[in-house]
Amino acid sequence: MKKFKHFGLIVLVLVLVTMTAACSSDTEAEPASGSGDKYTFKLAHITPTDHMWHKAAEKFKEELDKRSDGRMQVEIYPASQLGTEADMVQQISSGSVDFGFITAAYMSSRAPAFTAWFAPYAFEDLEAANDARDTEVAKNILGTLDSQGIKGLDYVFAGNRVMLFKDKEVKKPEDMNGLAFRVTPSPPLQDFYKSLGASPESLPLPEVYAAIQTGVIDGMDMDLDATITNKYYEVAKYGAVTNHMVWPAVAMMNKDKYDKMSDADKKIIDESIKAAADYSVTTRASQEEEFKKNLSDNGMKIYEIDKGLFDPYIKQFDEKYGPTDPLIKEFLDTFRK
Ligand code: BEZ
Repeated sequence: MKKFKHFGLIVLVLVLVTMTAACSSDTEAEPASGSGDKYTFKLAHITPTDHMWHKAAEKFKEELDKRSDGRMQVEIYPASQLGTEADMVQQISSGSVDFGFITAAYMSSRAPAFTAWFAPYAFEDLEAANDARDTEVAKNILGTLDSQGIKGLDYVFAGNRVMLFKDKEVKKPEDMNGLAFRVTPSPPLQDFYKSLGASPESLPLPEVYAAIQTGVIDGMDMDLDATITNKYYEVAKYGAVTNHMVWPAVAMMNKDKYDKMSDADKKIIDESIKAAADYSVTTRASQEEEFKKNLSDNGMKIYEIDKGLFDPYIKQFDEKYGPTDPLIKEFLDTFRK
């Protein structure tokens, strides 16, 4: 009998020890030690250092350092230091750069399924778009980069898209007629603005300020973040906070390098990117009102345009792009309410 009591006690202690271990790894991200390999990665992106994507890159660096016990370090190259997005993607694909946060807009010109993210008014708000990150269809869109030697890891959101105008208060889509309007080089974005009657001018970010200042363009598709960081309030009087499209960066890595890592190290990469992307969206969502006030304080007239006025153009977009790709169709079927 005494023997059984002893045995029972040992089982009880083992169960308690196992439960305690399970609880602590649930509540606190223990730094996984991985394989022991050391890495110094390069990460490139297009935005200035006060933009959310750069902050997300810094968060990623910090998370990698912490979770790998210092084995994984990152050198960040912001503000197009390594060239245009086309250059950066080429460098990531060839392996001379390891990571990039590249606009999904640019990626839509290399991998058409990314067009799905530019379905106008597909999401109620930033949080709803962020929830879409975890869906099968969003992950399958990332998977279309495999054939380019790129591992699509996740999406990092900045604020939604708005419309800025140099000196005309555009109150309805028809007011866009004939405006020279800067749009990121991306086929679905260009098409959307063409459907509104604007003449889309395909200009990369670094050329936009001078173009609107000198009157080469009458307005631009932008986010509030870059409107502040690039001081567009100095050269555009009107800001229509339409939030008509979301603005994800695709967090990507050279696929060969990723594939060669141990499973434990892959997990560190995946979890660190996820932490950075979560940080980015939570921080950004809380800044919306502050950003609008900042722009008003800087003299820009901030206003809204009724979403219902865009309904015919939304329909046109879906009818054009839905049939072009099964992933775009699945995306629209999943998120259009
Ligand atoms: C743009 O091309 O409009 C853009 C690119 C990156 C971040 C923000 C805006």
